[in-house]
Amino acid sequence: MKKQAILALALMAAGLVSVRSEAAEVSRAVLLGYTCAGCHGTNGNSEGPATPSLAGASKDYLIDAMQEYKSGERASTIMGRIARGYSREDIEQLAEFFSKQKFVPAQGQEADPALAKKGARLHDKYCEKCHADGGTSSEDDAGILAGQWTPYLRYTLADMMAGKSHAPKKMKKRLKKMHKKAGDAGIEHLIHYYASRK
Ligand code: HEC
Ligand code: HEC
Repeated sequence: MKKQAILALALMAAGLVSVRSEAAEVSRAVLLGYTCAGCHGTNGNSEGPATPSLAGASKDYLIDAMQEYKSGERASTIMGRIARGYSREDIEQLAEFFSKQKFVPAQGQEADPALAKKGARLHDKYCEKCHADGGTSSEDDAGILAGQWTPYLRYTLADMMAGKSHAPKKMKKRLKKMHKKAGDAGIEHLIHYYASRK
């Protein structure tokens, strides 16, 4: 794959490749993906901690996230600027590429077992419906939470609670309900739970 991509890069630079065949389409996605790898890691598994992994998230989830960065519906430090540089078609190809990579849980994150256990209960009650299989699934267009970098999860949740980043109405409702019952500690328990899933 790597060799192929380097070859494609060289050919593209020389203007020799017309992006028509399926193989060329794949190479183009790989090339687009290289731009992201510096921050999101090889194949979308970030070495963290403030940059999320993209690998294995659903295609629709990744497309939505990029469109939301583009439109400003999602708060960001840099993705707003980056996303604006890509067309809808580019974004679809990038999403296709990253959705097919294997998600590798973030390494070396500490989780307190007692707090993670509390978090597991909160997750089942408030989050499992959409973030299925203990937050490992990205079906229903929701992001992978289990094994994601926790600093990223923490500030994303804060942005969602503050209305700075888009969250589905139903998620917001449940997040608020959870917060009312369990407070900031509840958020921490959830974070420990997601960090404990490897
Ligand atoms: C300079 C570093 C950098 C580069 C390059 C970069 N990203 Fe990001 N990305 C981030 C950071 C940091 C975040 C968290 C949001 C923020 O603060 O901007 C993020 C968040 C994301 C998310 C949200 C993930 C989630 O779980 O919701 C997606 C999707 C994404 N980036 C896709 C891409 C794609 C596709 C590319 C390449 C075209 C790319 N990024 C290039 C740093 C980067
Ligand atoms: C009704 C379905 C639903 C429920 C319930 C739900 N979520 Fe979500 N969640 C989503 C969707 C859909 C997204 C993608 C939002 C977007 O990008 O606009 C999301 C995104 C997220 C993100 C951002 C992921 C990323 O990688 O950037 C976090 C963190 C999150 N949810 C945490 C939670 C937590 C914690 C709970 C329980 C308190 C919860 N969600 C409950 C549907 C839900």
